Amino acid sequence: MSYPLSNRVQKYLKRDLMNHPLVKGAMKCASSVYSKENPEGFINLGTAMSDLNNDKLYDRVMVRPKFPVTYFKYGDSNGTPKLLQAFKELLEDHMGCVDVNADHISMCSGCGVGVSIVCQAVTDVGDGVLVPVPCYSGFDFDLFNCDVNLVRFKLSNLEKLTDEYLQENKIKALLLTNPDNPMGTVIEREELVKIVNWCQEKEIHLISDEIYALEVFDPEKKFVSVMSIKVEKPELVTMVYGLSKDFCIPGWRTGVIYSKNEQLMNVVKQSSFYSSLSKDTMLSIEQLLCNHEFRDNWITNNRKMIHKQYLKVTKMLDNAEVPYAKSTSAFFFCLDLRKFLKEPERGEISEIELHDFLLDNYHVQILAGMGGFYFAEPGWFRMCYALEWEIMETAMERLIKGLNEYLNTEK
Ligand SMILES: Cc1ncc(COP(=O)(O)O)c(C=O)c1O
Repeated sequence: MSYPLSNRVQKYLKRDLMNHPLVKGAMKCASSVYSKENPEGFINLGTAMSDLNNDKLYDRVMVRPKFPVTYFKYGDSNGTPKLLQAFKELLEDHMGCVDVNADHISMCSGCGVGVSIVCQAVTDVGDGVLVPVPCYSGFDFDLFNCDVNLVRFKLSNLEKLTDEYLQENKIKALLLTNPDNPMGTVIEREELVKIVNWCQEKEIHLISDEIYALEVFDPEKKFVSVMSIKVEKPELVTMVYGLSKDFCIPGWRTGVIYSKNEQLMNVVKQSSFYSSLSKDTMLSIEQLLCNHEFRDNWITNNRKMIHKQYLKVTKMLDNAEVPYAKSTSAFFFCLDLRKFLKEPERGEISEIELHDFLLDNYHVQILAGMGGFYFAEPGWFRMCYALEWEIMETAMERLIKGLNEYLNTEK
């Protein structure tokens, strides 16, 4: 007997993402992870997680203070006062924001959850949200509850979007990712101001996912938060942040919403009853953020480590003549594997063939761009590189060997 689920979730059943080759590839990697003891294991360069600073994290959180009994109780679901103050200071000291009011900040269980909560608050069922492409496809999961249509467009076409188009698609918000995923680039102030002003003029919400804010490693580039730009309608601008990437703790599920919109923050804080972090985790995060000496050293060191690793990895690619798009931020970039594809006219299928070849024969996973990031043409693959160098070097050798062999196998 079949008991149908709600109409709301039918589209997810139809899409069946758990059986997508990229998701299955990640599961395969998790089933046998490469290590010295398991040299035939898989190396996952697909999932955006960093292992570069595990030792420093351990040393810090293992010496946390005795657990106060108040931390067993309900309360502070949107963040302990200490943590909200710590986030205010982080925004002011490292993200160019001024006079941040800690009441305008609320914590939630991950940046993805934060995007979802804000989106639910500013859209109705059937509304549209603009998302520049290529983009992080995790938004498909994050907006699971929202029943909105993600309307994908190229940022360079922003000013060509007409009022009629916005109306027809019931656009209520633009969801920006800065620094961006998958390209690992940061939006320059001038361009950001243009985007902010456009949203203000059209009176649509700008939701800025700034989860990679503290990982701009190119000394020529600077991160600018939307919250540091002066606007006439601040109620329409919201930043969502989290510690999964900049502090390498995705398992702690730490997100932050920052908005000057009092009504929105009222709703966000109410929602924190169901999206709160545990107080145990909050205490650990206090250890990371409240001591400014540790925090600032961490940020500087993490950035340096990423930059160093980026230079090593790209040198190997240059030597092997594997093209890629240069990045300036975050711990991934996109390989340009168009010349390696067989039958590119088959689009996503041609990418998946290469993906599966590398995974099955060389035990290394990189993420195909059409399925993973809504690239319009096949051939772009996102590669994360923040693994311990010994593992990363093995991954690169496998990848380069695999690509060369793929080129030499029959079409
Ligand atoms: C742009 C972007 N936003 C959100 C997330 C998810 O963040 P969290 O782990 O805090 O939910 C990711 C994870 O890869 C991401 O790349």
